[in-house]
Amino acid sequence: MTSYETILVGTHGRVGRITLNRPEALNALNSQVMRDVVAAAEAFDADEGIGAIVVTGSEKAFAAGADIKEMEQKSGREMIMDDHFGAWARFAAVRTPVIAAVSGYALGGGCELAMMCDIIVAGDTARFGQPEINLGVIPGMGGTQRLIRAVGAYVAADMVLTGRMLSADEAQRAGLVSRVVPAADLEAEAAKVAETIAAKSLPSVYAAKAALDAALETTLAEGLRFERHAFAALFDTADQKEGMAAFREKRQPDFTNR
Ligand code: HXC
Repeated sequence: MTSYETILVGTHGRVGRITLNRPEALNALNSQVMRDVVAAAEAFDADEGIGAIVVTGSEKAFAAGADIKEMEQKSGREMIMDDHFGAWARFAAVRTPVIAAVSGYALGGGCELAMMCDIIVAGDTARFGQPEINLGVIPGMGGTQRLIRAVGAYVAADMVLTGRMLSADEAQRAGLVSRVVPAADLEAEAAKVAETIAAKSLPSVYAAKAALDAALETTLAEGLRFERHAFAALFDTADQKEGMAAFREKRQPDFTNR
């Protein structure tokens, strides 16, 4: 398996795992982290043996944001010409479901990275925030756009305009997080979610993720059309026949991703 400078990667069965590993900077997301995470996620995505990906950080920080020290002296022109954060779009575009397992700080780009994932599972120590306003800037990796879709206009505005952090419980009540567990159980809980997804039929999982993404990106009429066609297309898979036969025969399905 490829080794990376700023992350650790591994697999367990059909689950790929990416662990942010810049403890000296609370996993701040510099350009190298972006390159590493994108490359690792794309490699897992290209592997039919992987059915779900977990992204996690440390106990103290999922990620404390984009790397302020790397950005500080850049000009607007440099930010535009380098497309400094552009490659994150490739992470958000992987077809394999990604679970963010968040412990400690998920701030700025860290919160935005979590929101590029499909499911966010939190340890009870997690803190979510978009504190960019305290630095004289605004979120730049999707914070204003994804947060508003996740938690609604008013909680998003409170976070983005004041910089206040949400606790894990507040984030769950707001709809940003689907499960909160004691921090010590986070790894096991995220693995359980990932293994559950990875045991399904991959073509249906890809279709489900694409349809969910479409709901956030398009009109209801377009989204419904997309869903109907994706649903119909799955009837050409062997796994649809297997899944429905298994139901009729009162047994567990044996999916082959065909
Ligand atoms: C660079 C960072 C960092 C960051 C922490 N560190 N966050 N370095 N970029 N985002 C570094 C600190 O400088 C310090 O290094 C070390 O990590 C430990 O951090 P401390 O501050 O000493 O820890 P603590 O006192 O426990 O405070 C934790 C914290 C604080 C509350 C999370 O670090 C913090 O406020 N960080 C910045 C959070 C933030 O503003 N995020 C948004 C960034 S902007 P040294 O070498 O001093 O020990 C952003 C824009 C995204 O994300 C959009 C991009 C397009």
